[in-house]
Amino acid sequence: MKYILNLSLVALLLAVFSCDGNKTAGTLGASDEVETRVERILSEMTLAEKIGQMNQVSAGGDVAQYADALRKGQIGSILNEVDPAKINEFQRIAVEESRLGIPLLVGRDVIHGFHTVFPIPLGLAATFDPALVEEGARVAAIEATAQGVRWTFSPMLDIARDPRWGRIAEGSGEDPYLDARMAEAMVHGYQGREADSTSMAACIKHFVGYGAAEGGRDYNSTFLTERQLRNIYLPPFEAAVKAGAMTLMTSFNDNDGVPSTGNTFVVKDVLRGEWGFDGLVVTDWNSMGEMINHGFGEDRKDVAEKAVNAGVDMDMMTYGFLSHLEELVKSGAVKEKTINQAVRNILRVKVMLGLFDNPYVDVDAAAAVQYAPAHLASAQKTVEESAILLKNDGVLPLGKGLRILVTGPLADAPHDQLGTWAFDGEKAHTVTPLKALRERFPGQVDYVPGLRFSREKRSSFADVVAAARRADVVLAFLGEEAILSGEAHSLADLNLQGSQSELLAALKTAGKPVVAVVMAGRPLTIERDLPNVNGLLYSFHPGTMGGPALANLLFGDVNPSGKTPITFLRTVGQAPLYYSHNMTGRPYNGETLLEDIPLEAGQTSLGNTSYYLDYGAYPLFPFGYGLSYTSFAYSGIGLDKEAYKADETLRVNFTLTNTGAFDGTEVAQVYIRDLVGSITRPVKELKAFERVSLKAGESRTLTVDIPVQELAFVGLDGEKKVEAGEFLLWVAGDSASGEAIRFKVL
Ligand code: BGC
Repeated sequence: MKYILNLSLVALLLAVFSCDGNKTAGTLGASDEVETRVERILSEMTLAEKIGQMNQVSAGGDVAQYADALRKGQIGSILNEVDPAKINEFQRIAVEESRLGIPLLVGRDVIHGFHTVFPIPLGLAATFDPALVEEGARVAAIEATAQGVRWTFSPMLDIARDPRWGRIAEGSGEDPYLDARMAEAMVHGYQGREADSTSMAACIKHFVGYGAAEGGRDYNSTFLTERQLRNIYLPPFEAAVKAGAMTLMTSFNDNDGVPSTGNTFVVKDVLRGEWGFDGLVVTDWNSMGEMINHGFGEDRKDVAEKAVNAGVDMDMMTYGFLSHLEELVKSGAVKEKTINQAVRNILRVKVMLGLFDNPYVDVDAAAAVQYAPAHLASAQKTVEESAILLKNDGVLPLGKGLRILVTGPLADAPHDQLGTWAFDGEKAHTVTPLKALRERFPGQVDYVPGLRFSREKRSSFADVVAAARRADVVLAFLGEEAILSGEAHSLADLNLQGSQSELLAALKTAGKPVVAVVMAGRPLTIERDLPNVNGLLYSFHPGTMGGPALANLLFGDVNPSGKTPITFLRTVGQAPLYYSHNMTGRPYNGETLLEDIPLEAGQTSLGNTSYYLDYGAYPLFPFGYGLSYTSFAYSGIGLDKEAYKADETLRVNFTLTNTGAFDGTEVAQVYIRDLVGSITRPVKELKAFERVSLKAGESRTLTVDIPVQELAFVGLDGEKKVEAGEFLLWVAGDSASGEAIRFKVL
């Protein structure tokens, strides 16, 4: 280490530090020792070196190009380098050849696994299993940190209620409660419950509202009121901050005219002020520079000033801080105190990750942990819990000894089944359904792809139909190529692409049972395809181990238990449609549809409620929905009291019975509705869920505790509190089922 311990200097600076009034309780839980170390380093830095720490560059591949800037201390962090030898070289120059020897923070988008690719985050959410999701994030951290990546730009916590938005794939779907539980799980998994050399700092993103882009068009404006932010969009971020998330990324969107990277209200007031976040805030890729495109700043200097004064610590790829902060400090437009605070936030993360103690990785050991058998097993289990059974006329699970026709563009698409943001997953390691089925049933599998990729158009499927006639069962693997979802990949049409629906229609003519497996980055509008299949398993892009997991599900080794983390629409025109909408003044009550309307019907003869004449008011599948090979019955649903005080806890009791012939797992869900509020309230809100495994015929009585404070919301007076009154409560297997019981809050 190049800095020298100078106790009197430390004491002096600590005094200055406290005068700054900057020492907060700290959500990162840094020890006094960490803070002292941070202050000591800060005290030795020139203004230019401080500003250098606030600069992040995409340095993939090219150490030499950045060597000079590293020596001058002009780079605090790099992203997009994963070669452990090169990362060591970057670190060596930063540590050994710069004046203060401050190590780099090396970031990467490790979104759903590093080499071992897990299901896309929407698929992770479909497991409703935070413990398993935490395990997956741990696996990702172990693999990535072995190569020197100590910071991931994950989890994405954007609530998304419009499946046209391609980035819906990257989050947990539409519900704040489910999103918050997934957020905590991923933060704990990446960072580890105990900090060590496999801890990878999580970056919660994109702060905030990005998923509410108008029309589902990526990067578009959002118009969320403060109340919507506080009741729906902010809670998952707050939960992740409380779980100890070390970093946060500001989003691209402008909300009601204010781009997030310059949004003092959300970053400074809410995140720093109300929540006490003392982690690092980084911009999204050039989101500072894009404030010029937004027309929110004149030039790079202007947007750099706005961003740093809003509370941003690190600039990803705009070079606005590096080029202009010094000048802005000198002119007084930015206070040096603001810069000090930003640098503290950056150094704190570096110290806590242990980078000052050892920034290097063991290059020879890195390869051994990639694709480790335990990692592949964890990825496979996650797919098994994540796939959702949406239709089954009894065809599933399949018996043994069948002649199987495998068809469809996703049957053997090792790249596409990895999904979006799988930078480091290698398709050579992917096990496709075709591969898994051939290994499992040698000699029984015939493969006729029908379509080579999801967008392909074809007019005749004679070859596939002929093969189907020779088979006992047809397994059609359909969906979306990986490139059709993710960033900047929004779609206006959510039907199966290309001629996939025509393929299913043709297969039906062969007269053999057809089971479709859909692998996609979003909930597609598959209503028109359902009549053509006997069974349908929906797997969001499943990752490396999709093949064996899906085979286990289809053949009954594992019983499906995934549930929809997002409402499935009948048609794209229904978007956005989500279960937790507010009660309207004229709720739908099943009124006349298009085909029932008499000619020249009177203006008011159809009734006046909230629905579409052509598609009614309901989705294809509601939130929280998913079938099993067995069936479950809920009984004895009750509460321990009729009325609760605001500081008490609801105790929900119910009995769950496996009423079918298979062992299985149900995700029991508890929803509430606040009947009258100072503002209109959602018709239902998820407040708890639990995965319960039961043997065929088994019954279990369960208890779920929900603190009454979980019912709090920001009402008319702007305060977050539980409002007294009557509530409904459901315990059910999805958001559209169950009988409500009542309780009161006093
Ligand atoms: C995305 C972020 C990502 C960043 C770095 C941006 O385009 O919006 O989610 O973390 O790039 O790759």
